[in-house]
Amino acid sequence: MRLTVRYLCSIVRYRRRFSILLLISALLFIIFILSIIDRNHPELNPLPNSEQEIKITTAQKVIRAISTTVAQQNRLWPLDEQGRSLKNHFFVFDATGFFGSAASEGVEVKCESSNTTFTWTRQPNQMNKVDFAISHDARLQQDFPFDKLHLNSERQQYSMAFIMESEAHSSTGDAWANYNFRMSYNLDDSYPEPATYFDVNIHIIDLLTPPVVKFEKKETRADVVWIISNCDAHNGRQGFIEQLMKEIKIDSYGLCLNNRQGYGDRMTDNVEAYMKYKFVIAIENSNCIDYVTEKLVKAVESGSVPIVAGRNGRPDYRRFMPDHSYINIFDYPTVKALADDLKRIANNKTLYESYLWFKKHKINLRLFAELSLNEKIKQFTGIVGSNATMIKDGIVAKEKSENKICKLIRFVRQTPWQEIATHKRAARPNENIACLQRGNILDHFRSSLSSNGSSVKN
Ligand SMILES: *[C@@H]1O[C@H](CO)[C@@H](O)[C@H](O)[C@H]1NC(C)=O
Ligand SMILES: *[C@@H]1O[C@H](CO)[C@@H](O)[C@H](O)[C@H]1NC(C)=O
Ligand SMILES: *[C@@H]1O[C@H](CO)[C@@H](O)[C@H](O)[C@H]1NC(C)=O
Ligand SMILES: *[C@@H]1O[C@H](CO)[C@@H](O)[C@H](O)[C@H]1NC(C)=O
Repeated sequence: MRLTVRYLCSIVRYRRRFSILLLISALLFIIFILSIIDRNHPELNPLPNSEQEIKITTAQKVIRAISTTVAQQNRLWPLDEQGRSLKNHFFVFDATGFFGSAASEGVEVKCESSNTTFTWTRQPNQMNKVDFAISHDARLQQDFPFDKLHLNSERQQYSMAFIMESEAHSSTGDAWANYNFRMSYNLDDSYPEPATYFDVNIHIIDLLTPPVVKFEKKETRADVVWIISNCDAHNGRQGFIEQLMKEIKIDSYGLCLNNRQGYGDRMTDNVEAYMKYKFVIAIENSNCIDYVTEKLVKAVESGSVPIVAGRNGRPDYRRFMPDHSYINIFDYPTVKALADDLKRIANNKTLYESYLWFKKHKINLRLFAELSLNEKIKQFTGIVGSNATMIKDGIVAKEKSENKICKLIRFVRQTPWQEIATHKRAARPNENIACLQRGNILDHFRSSLSSNGSSVKN
């Protein structure tokens, strides 16, 4: 090393013309040494749809500093001849705060699927350098720096809006058409792909895991559990639960219709409570296309049978679950018919366990957990069948289960910028289109409630 430096110094003194070239050679040599030192550096996988800090090796930092300098000198974003990004490190501007994320200024995240990294910033003066400017929910022109972003043959700067709240509780309409990309729980309406509440790796394992609490050991004072803190949901679920409580015992630990203590509002506590009961009410606050949240995720984690609400594809639970694995309240004409069926299932072990049919298999789950997502999906498909909606057209087919920025990076490295620039952008459909109407659960059962038992299907 000392020899190299001395050699370099003398060259710099006597041959100025080649000094830059040699300086770069020396830097490359140092990088090579650093990369050997760093070879065993541990790396963490970023969680899907979340931000997680990882350590970037010293060698990678030096390489990046050099390539950034070169790019800035040229004022060019590197592209292949088809217009696909060749960048290895991306810079992401968060326009509206890191909603639901642990990311902070300067945090670096590694993307396994593209062997790239990205860094977050919130500093507006960095705008000319960013690759993605992202917003939680859609902002209007004046709130979002669309005019500062360029998408042409020299610079590929993209805008993206993401949302995890349903159309009934977030913005819809034209503002969404301003953005290049849109990510939400909606499996089809997202571009380039959705960012859902599900990590398919974990969802599949949860589905395959045998129940922690066996049928015989389930809570006896009630078959159904409900833990909710929003008592004024868009779809009127509270009024419905109130009616259902008259027909079947429900333990409610949350703020709404509370009748039992012992578990807090935290979802981790909920899973512990859920597993003791035969049924878990996992009805969302609104019934919208693909709007399925951690309520179902946690119910599945508990190993108990979820009670859900979906009609006219709002949402279609077959996209998230195996067939015959949940109770859909809309399959019943009356609250009483639903309650009677729940009792019938709760009192017949064979029948109850038929709703957990996919948990019977020969897979060693400890080894299974180590497999790649593709390999997991292959084995899971062998159990639930290749025709299952969740496999063909649902969460397994569409959720790639990686950080949402990594999804974007993978996409811009595979897709010519011209294609993205001309992609037809649309407004986000409003709640009247995407969701069942306000109070729809009560509406569905209203006739049965008023006439006490007469079945009029909606
Ligand atoms: C990432 O890099 C490693 C080693 O450098 C290589 O084995 C792997 O195939 C690369 N993955 C992708 C997706 O390019
Ligand atoms: C329990 O359910 C199974 C499966 O549906 C059925 O064959 C059986 O007759 C039921 N047993 C009783 C006692 O109802
Ligand atoms: C899937 O569906 C196709 C067409 O309906 C049918 O021919 C095939 O047997 C099904 N496969 C399985 C595994 O059920
Ligand atoms: C419905 O009618 C039955 C008698 O037929 C009665 O016992 C029950 O309390 C009624 N339920 C409601 C909700 O009015």
